[in-house]
Amino acid sequence: MITMSDKQAVLEELDRVLGYVTGDTVIDAHEIERIKKETVDNLGTYINPQFLEIRKSTKGDDGAFNAVIEWRDEGEFFYDIEGNQYIDCLGGYGVFTPGHRNPEIVKIVKAQLSRLGLHSQELLEPLRAYLAKTMELITPGDLQYAFFTNGGAEAVEMALKLARLYTGGKWYISTRNAFHGKTVGALTATGKAFTRKPFTPLIPTSYHVPYNNAPAVRDAIENLMDVGEKVAAVIVEPIQGEGGVNVPDPGYLSELRKICNTYDVCLIFDEIQTGMGRTGTMWRCEAEQVVPDIMTYGKAFGGGIVPITGIIAKGKLWTDELIKNPNLLGSPTFGGNPISCAAALATITYMLKHRTPETCKVKGGKILNGLKGIQKKHPSVLLDVRGAGLLIGMQFKNGKIGFHVATELFKRRILTAGTEINATTIRIEPTALISDESIEKLLFHVDEVLAKTEALIAAGKFKENVAKPGSDAS
Ligand SMILES: Cc1ncc(COP(=O)(O)O)c(C=O)c1O
Repeated sequence: MITMSDKQAVLEELDRVLGYVTGDTVIDAHEIERIKKETVDNLGTYINPQFLEIRKSTKGDDGAFNAVIEWRDEGEFFYDIEGNQYIDCLGGYGVFTPGHRNPEIVKIVKAQLSRLGLHSQELLEPLRAYLAKTMELITPGDLQYAFFTNGGAEAVEMALKLARLYTGGKWYISTRNAFHGKTVGALTATGKAFTRKPFTPLIPTSYHVPYNNAPAVRDAIENLMDVGEKVAAVIVEPIQGEGGVNVPDPGYLSELRKICNTYDVCLIFDEIQTGMGRTGTMWRCEAEQVVPDIMTYGKAFGGGIVPITGIIAKGKLWTDELIKNPNLLGSPTFGGNPISCAAALATITYMLKHRTPETCKVKGGKILNGLKGIQKKHPSVLLDVRGAGLLIGMQFKNGKIGFHVATELFKRRILTAGTEINATTIRIEPTALISDESIEKLLFHVDEVLAKTEALIAAGKFKENVAKPGSDAS
């Protein structure tokens, strides 16, 4: 039980900490050092002792420990507690497409917060209703019914469950190297051993095939049917993000569509990372003119301000069973709450008004072309550059080289990151607000870092072809 003196200590500390937020605690040089030390100590003691190891924001020159404290964000930048500016070329793995604290979105969220924060759970919520209608309008084909959730993996869970309800099938076909999240159902669909292994058996009725291989999906479905099984869904990312920015060949998605039509299997596109303009169209599947049965979305959907994710599905998937029991799929307490719906509606408005998908396409094209030029100069270091819109990957020989490049760029105040799978591929995923000046800086520094890395490789560094799973991902 908490004692009186513990209680007093907690209140005193929280008074100071909340003062950082309100501005009531003066943050001078002494306070900065204190925040740094306490952040490092608390993360290590109360989150995970190894937490700091996986952050390149702790890697100073010559291996010295450094602690870069995230403090403020605005537009295309992050700022640390000392006020240093970082070009955000990570974009929160796709969250910050409309920029940091976009004023047009913040204004709406603040206004909503001053009237109604979370919902009663019983009265009717107008913003959830308007957002669902808006989703029908801005998604392709006959996608109609929306269901709002709080995290990406939760949205994937809903998609997987809905496919079972509709088809009566039990099996899921997913792809190797896929990333769909880490809850049990989503992890089942995720395609990498190191995240799955400690938790198996997951949903045992699942099967992974190589990505970008439609015949493999057909074979898997036919094999299962042959032995009396029924497949509920094929789930894919239209571009694999965490798997290393793997862009499939044109025609792959439409081939999957045909296969799923033939065998009455639900086609799920996980657009959590590729959607909301990131890849140059509002949804990646639009670029190939393919409509899934269920689509998931998240990341930038809340405008980089409030978490909100969800699914949208064809009308036919809302079976009598589901219509009679609307909570059957799920009933998340916070799903579709007023603040998050206000954020999503403001984000969609912002993106349509400012043509964010087109901006991603144009700026992404500039970066991709620039990086391709750099690759020609350093082909032994940078093996490949690929992507669509502002989802771009630079592939190196191994994770050590990738992690080194990302760390060196960070020291030059450019934030990039590896993928969930490893740091062999470094992602460039900036906000759509990235300026021409920042693009030039990015290209200049990548070029310089690669030249230096090339020299280090020639001197025998980075020989091991090991990317410590997960740990060097960021
Ligand atoms: C395609 C895709 N699906 C699902 C997820 C999981 O989202 P969350 O981390 O919000 O659970 C991610 C996260 O990176 C993702 O990229």
